[in-house]
Amino acid sequence: MTDEKIVRLTQTVKGAGCAAKLPPGDLDRALCGLDLPVDDNLIVGLERADDAGVYKVSADVALVQTLDFFPPMVDDPYSFGRIAAANALSDVYAMGGTPKTAMNIVAFPAKKLDISVLRAVVDGGLFTLRQAGVVLVGGHTVEDDELKYGLSVTGFIHPERILTKKTLRVGDKLLLTKRLGTGIVCTAIKAGMAGEAITGQVIESMMTLNREAALAMGDYTVSACTDITGFGFLGHLAEMVVDSGAGLRIDSAAVPVYPEALEWADMGLIPAGAYNNRAFRGEFVSFAPDVPQRIQDVLFDPQTSGGLLIVVSAAEAAALRGELLRRGVGAAAIVGEVVAEPQEKIMVE
Ligand code: CO
Ligand code: CO
Ligand code: CO
Repeated sequence: MTDEKIVRLTQTVKGAGCAAKLPPGDLDRALCGLDLPVDDNLIVGLERADDAGVYKVSADVALVQTLDFFPPMVDDPYSFGRIAAANALSDVYAMGGTPKTAMNIVAFPAKKLDISVLRAVVDGGLFTLRQAGVVLVGGHTVEDDELKYGLSVTGFIHPERILTKKTLRVGDKLLLTKRLGTGIVCTAIKAGMAGEAITGQVIESMMTLNREAALAMGDYTVSACTDITGFGFLGHLAEMVVDSGAGLRIDSAAVPVYPEALEWADMGLIPAGAYNNRAFRGEFVSFAPDVPQRIQDVLFDPQTSGGLLIVVSAAEAAALRGELLRRGVGAAAIVGEVVAEPQEKIMVE
């Protein structure tokens, strides 16, 4: 070990807060009209814009595949590794799958950061993989100006038990399993404004696997599921309603949020990704006049390693929430419902 001075990881990243991804509209424009390979066994592919790809191997086994990586949104390298791994695994859980294997994706600025930082990041990732029962099978590291870390993850699923985004059943309830506002809080962390308590809470939430939530929903009549990440709560709901033949009604007062995020939203401490999300998906959303601006901002805030959004039959919603609470998913809340009209719209009340 060298005794190089401790570096605040978030200060080594140029972009602000959690939202380092390409604006969603730009990606659509780049990929639109490209000639995608076709295969009869591809059950969920790129054109569906779902959480993960699904490829059928046999009558009762399909592969679920996904990858995610990003620059650090927190200063502690070990925590960053745990967060990146929980985030990468989440898309498999959101499809109803069980993650099995993973590979590291690393970009490392060897001239700027001590190699012990890389070790701590990968060690954090390994901790989370052990929690998930996932085995690391390889990886790839390149030198870059900025640290980035994540994983490509492969899981298994029964081909008839895939939970996609758009299979909304009118009357079903929406359950959210983690609080919103991590993008805003990470922006405050980077700005040096977040105290220890809120920083610790948000890091703990981002490090928490969606595994318990996924195991819980396996026993209930769930019609659709996704995880809340970079597009924010309303951006991901917009993906659900498009071409679904249904709409959504959200009770904004019931949505779990970090109170600190609301205060920082009032001060304008909002990551650029939140504005991108609103610009890209705002047309699907109508806010009742009494929904405060700060709540609207948090509902578009890009999340890192956010919770699952579970669409469950109305009759079982309270029981599933109880099961989630028993499993330690303490923020779980019923936040809205699937409605027949207006189609392809989200009404936030
Ligand atoms: Co996802
Ligand atoms: Co993803
Ligand atoms: Co899904």
